[in-house]
Amino acid sequence: MSGAAEAIWQNANLATMAGGATYGAVPDGALAVRGGRIAWVGARAALPEGLIGAETVVHDAGGGWITPALIDCHTHLVFAGNRAEEFEGRLCGDTYEGAARRGGGIVSTVMKTRAADEAALLASARGRLARLVAEGVRTVEIKSGYGLSIESELKMLRVARALGRESGVRVRTSFLGAHAVPPEFAGRSDDYVDLIVEEMLPAVAAEGLADAVDAFAETIAFSNAQIRRIFEAAAALGLPVKLHADQLTDGDGAAFAASVGALSADHLEYTSAAGAQAMGAAGTVAVLLPGAYATVGARQPPPVAAFRAHGVGMAVATDCNPGSSPMCSLLMAMNLACALFRLTPEEALAGVTRQAARALGLAGEVGTLEVGKAAEFAVWDVGHPRELAYWMGGVGPRVVLG
Ligand code: NIG
Ligand code: FE
Repeated sequence: MSGAAEAIWQNANLATMAGGATYGAVPDGALAVRGGRIAWVGARAALPEGLIGAETVVHDAGGGWITPALIDCHTHLVFAGNRAEEFEGRLCGDTYEGAARRGGGIVSTVMKTRAADEAALLASARGRLARLVAEGVRTVEIKSGYGLSIESELKMLRVARALGRESGVRVRTSFLGAHAVPPEFAGRSDDYVDLIVEEMLPAVAAEGLADAVDAFAETIAFSNAQIRRIFEAAAALGLPVKLHADQLTDGDGAAFAASVGALSADHLEYTSAAGAQAMGAAGTVAVLLPGAYATVGARQPPPVAAFRAHGVGMAVATDCNPGSSPMCSLLMAMNLACALFRLTPEEALAGVTRQAARALGLAGEVGTLEVGKAAEFAVWDVGHPRELAYWMGGVGPRVVLG
């Protein structure tokens, strides 16, 4: 610690999410910011005098709660069109897999996304991002995967990067070329995997457009053997991996993700106890996506008890996408994670802060209120942080910093 802080926040309760007490709570706390970093955090009574100088701006948080800024660690925010018709179809007896097999599903969004130019994609994603930001989100993961050709995948990732630049939100991109088999490769999925490994991934990496590589392991998508090839290519390029795993069937995706040291395995409704154990041993984060669970009409929730038993960190995200989760509210995802998966409100808040940071490989940078981390936090007019998961939307933060 050296010199006065630029800003101090006090008359606040802190939910540091950094361990210790429940919510890492510090009642009547104070938080000091210097150079965009948290310089000091603790009980106000213990605030070192030297932190307050002539230039220090002292903010009154009005007795509310300060949490780390929220992190949406799994989105498909960039896409064209919507799939309300498919949603309606499911309510009239169709299934998510059925629509996909008939050329609807992901591929129908691919057609629209291929036809859209960067400006149109940027404009529609901008609105969705604004809704997340209004809820205190300062870090968002955005996947490609609705292009499925070199040019269209690059286009999606460029739009994701542009969104980060123009908004100031920290955007982490994931290359999801293995999201679906594009129609021109129907019946030739191995050839498409060749294209991903030999051409798409190198092109994406050459432009520095991906922070991670993702894939959809599922009977209607790619096998673990195919994805292993993609992940080996990712590792050779120094890119971490994540996996859409066990969403619709138990494909041993969780254990597979753990075996390759994936940052996260996501969805996980059909994950077995053995899969949860493997994730715990590997430190792979379970990203729970209750919006997708609810929207596709799933019946089996992810094995939360097994995740707890095996020490698997659980993140919560919107999965914002036009097919399985047309949701742009991370607070709603927290509420649904509690209501549908029985997470506690504290687990849900950890899921959009500390655990979400881990799922993105950003644990050293964001996700808790700790000295040295980025000064990105939200001030909420709530009486207790459990209210963030309790209200079904509608509780925006008063201020978001960072
Ligand atoms: O995370 N599971 C695969 N991918 C997305 C759905 C994409 C879509 O239906 O357009 C998901 O749920
Ligand atoms: Fe997804």
